[in-house]
Amino acid sequence: MTPMATIISHSPAETEALGEQLGRGARHGLVVSLSGELGAGKTQLVRGVARGLGVTGRVHSPTFTLINEYSGGRLMLFHLDLYRLETADQILTAGVEEFLSPDGVAIIEWAERLTLLGRSPGVESLMRRVNIEIIAVNDRKITYDDFGA
Ligand SMILES: Nc1ncnc2c1ncn2[C@@H]1O[C@H](COP(=O)(O)OP(=O)(O)OP(=O)(O)O)[C@@H](O)[C@H]1O
Ligand SMILES: [Mg+2]
Repeated sequence: MTPMATIISHSPAETEALGEQLGRGARHGLVVSLSGELGAGKTQLVRGVARGLGVTGRVHSPTFTLINEYSGGRLMLFHLDLYRLETADQILTAGVEEFLSPDGVAIIEWAERLTLLGRSPGVESLMRRVNIEIIAVNDRKITYDDFGA
């Protein structure tokens, strides 16, 4: 198991900065599984990942589109949000599996949903977990696999 690191973020900008660090160090094929309750700051973190990869376009939540793709950076960025997928069937039909070995970097909000497929995020070698916990209005406890970036 990869060792877990923890930081306390005191602002959206700090959360984004952690994402940016992750994005800068990201390798082709990386899958980031993001967990944390509604409004925790998952999408905020992805904005940083995009910046770290050199993506210049604005990042919008894929809550309704399921997958947003961003080119223009060092690697393609695939941003998924599985919140609305409630069964293994829906996950398979949505074509989520191909993003588990992405041609670029995939970052998956509500990655907990993957357990419906019998997959546990964290076991694949290029999978990294990030969990964001709300501890106060502007404070977040972020626990992540040390991505060595
Ligand atoms: N330290 C912090 N880090 C991240 N976001 C913060 C922080 N403090 C306050 N916020 C606010 O929390 C909200 C996080 O929203 P965001 O859309 O990123 O959450 P999310 O985890 O993606 O939610 P959802 O599950 O609905 O997609 C934003 O309004 C942001 O401004
Ligand atoms: Mg979100």
